[in-house]
Amino acid sequence: MINFQLFKNTKNCRNTNDFRTLAKAKLPSAIFHYIDGAADDEVTYRRNTEAYEKCDLIPNVLAGVEEIDTSVEVMGMKIDIPMFCSPTALQRLFHYDGERAVAKAAEKYGTLFGISSLGTVSLQEIGKTISTPKMFQFYCHKDKGVNDAMIEMCKQANFDAIALTVDTITGGNRERDLWTGFTTPPKLTPKSLISFVLHPNWSLNYLLREKFSLPQLEQHVNRGTNIAVSVGDYLSSMLDQSMDWKDAEEINRKWGKKFCLKGVMSVDDAKRAVDIGADAIMVSNHGGRQLDGCISPFEQLAEIVDAVGDRIDVICDGGIRRGTHVLKALSVGAKACSGGRWYLYALAAGGQLGVEKAISNMKNEIERDMKLMGVTKLSQLSRKNIKFR
Ligand code: LAC
Repeated sequence: MINFQLFKNTKNCRNTNDFRTLAKAKLPSAIFHYIDGAADDEVTYRRNTEAYEKCDLIPNVLAGVEEIDTSVEVMGMKIDIPMFCSPTALQRLFHYDGERAVAKAAEKYGTLFGISSLGTVSLQEIGKTISTPKMFQFYCHKDKGVNDAMIEMCKQANFDAIALTVDTITGGNRERDLWTGFTTPPKLTPKSLISFVLHPNWSLNYLLREKFSLPQLEQHVNRGTNIAVSVGDYLSSMLDQSMDWKDAEEINRKWGKKFCLKGVMSVDDAKRAVDIGADAIMVSNHGGRQLDGCISPFEQLAEIVDAVGDRIDVICDGGIRRGTHVLKALSVGAKACSGGRWYLYALAAGGQLGVEKAISNMKNEIERDMKLMGVTKLSQLSRKNIKFR
């Protein structure tokens, strides 16, 4: 039976899937499928979540759990919950407040969030309005002028960390985007027109509110802001495919503050991240949007933690839908977890209030699950709390 209550507002959304249902109803289909879709057959995308079902938690009891502390420290920043909002692109296409809404919700719950190079609100504005820790997602462009300008903007806006994206050396094969014709900015075609007409709220907001732009890039790049391109085309044509470890080291040196590699999956690369002085790695396959058939972050976590966990913060990114997933990753040895879709569906479903509800759902689950696991601090979780089948 269809749950009509669910379609009213985000207050009724109890989990990621509820937000996804609401987002699907509210967005023109090309935009929904851009968020929801992944590469090739989307095997990795599904696996990222399924991986959490291959192991079980082992709780302890009689632990006196009336007062618990859900905070963790990552890259020297204290955050109030161990799950944060990974940086993602194009957020004002999902809701007219875009990154503003996500940043305010993350600030309210004391967690980290990120602004992408392909973000739709400026670093400057976020720097001025948000006081809690902020991360910038750096895409290394062929045009070195763009790269230097973005580092400078991060410094000016007083961002705390840069995450250099290393899993997107070329665009993934996102077949849903090819089917729907999704572009940035969205193009009016006979197919998209029908979808825009069927979603008048979204369309009016898009047409009547602040013009869509990519403020981090628009001074240097026309594609994506004024010239409509698919995201795959943008990534494949604009990013520097010659990027290597020396470039990563150079970006870290120019930046000089907290630095993280987003998209490390192998133990060898995790060790090299330590060698170039990174403060953290996000073990991530970009939500399955890049290399389909890639192992999931959670399945790769233990080996990476064993190799580098004492020298660098290991963050488990992607596939997380439940508080128990976070507790599983932390039991294996992650310092924190992060993800994109878990808050993007909520953004599309209800703007800032939607993201606040998604974060609050996750926080409530983590609190309840900590009590049921018999821990008062997240640092008490260890491999003794988990068994792989
Ligand atoms: C994505 C990039 C842009 O679409 O992060 O996955």
